[in-house]
Amino acid sequence: MAKPKVIITRRWPEAAEARARKLFDVVLNEDDHPMTVAELQEALKTADAVCPTVSDAITAEVLSAEPLKCKILGNYGVGFNHIDLGAAKSRNLVVTNTPEVLTDCTADIAMILMLMVARRAGEGERHVRHKEWTGWRPTHMIGTKVTGKTLGLVGMGRIARAMAHKAHHGFDMKIIFTDPYPPPDDVVKSLDAEPRDTIEEVLKEADFVSLHCPGGKETYHLLNEERIGLMKPGAFLINSARGDVIDPQALIKALNNGTIKGAGLDVYEGEPNVQEEFLTMENVVLLPHLGSASMETRVAMGMRAIDNVQAFFEGKEPGDRVV
Ligand code: DGY
Repeated sequence: MAKPKVIITRRWPEAAEARARKLFDVVLNEDDHPMTVAELQEALKTADAVCPTVSDAITAEVLSAEPLKCKILGNYGVGFNHIDLGAAKSRNLVVTNTPEVLTDCTADIAMILMLMVARRAGEGERHVRHKEWTGWRPTHMIGTKVTGKTLGLVGMGRIARAMAHKAHHGFDMKIIFTDPYPPPDDVVKSLDAEPRDTIEEVLKEADFVSLHCPGGKETYHLLNEERIGLMKPGAFLINSARGDVIDPQALIKALNNGTIKGAGLDVYEGEPNVQEEFLTMENVVLLPHLGSASMETRVAMGMRAIDNVQAFFEGKEPGDRVV
């Protein structure tokens, strides 16, 4: 039997590409350029499966490709707000994602952002590299202590729980959270975590607020001017979820006015474009969407996407089916 034709939209680590090549008739985007609408449509018209990723906008327009050959979108990534699921469903496409394998690394990045912004690590790094450091002194670059503070989690899914574990057991932090679908009681208990009914309560109480909700219409600009205004003046906002959960102009204003003390961002509305104002602010740590970017995790994500596509073509239910 002929191998299914699979188009992978962006390059994967070698080990994952090698396994994909063994199982499927793979077409790679050799030079790893962001594919255009026309290229994505061509992929949907010519392949049995397409493996897109978070930087591909799989819109209703893209999914209107005719005649459609593709049967499954084996997404490389846990988030799927870049895929119009309604349109995919109406085209009878199966959509899968890659949960679990990136939980720890993404939680690590949230911890890195929290520690860096609180302890002024980005600023300190620039200081040394720019040869501005004149030596140790008791008043130099004083930051904010993290250990023992209150961490407020907006969304309490896998990544938030992993961050809570590291923050509570490693940094003795008190954990509060809000989530319409809270975790089971034993999980909450193991973290000594305390639920709050509303995001507003979390914002008012936390020293560090970390966002872990999905992107999309329901959470668009959830952190707007009014909500950011509820945070403590000495508090920090961390975002490793999706950029558009924060209204960037509201955050810029809050950081400039001292409404909050700082922010750590791994994701941005309209990325890879980053709002100009952030670039010159010392109280913001900016990372280029590195949440899952460890070799172990990026290989595991590829393997997970392959598992899903392989299961589908073997007539089995893919493990991580979204629709
Ligand atoms: C995802 O998987 O959705 C992340 O944003 C990238 O790893």
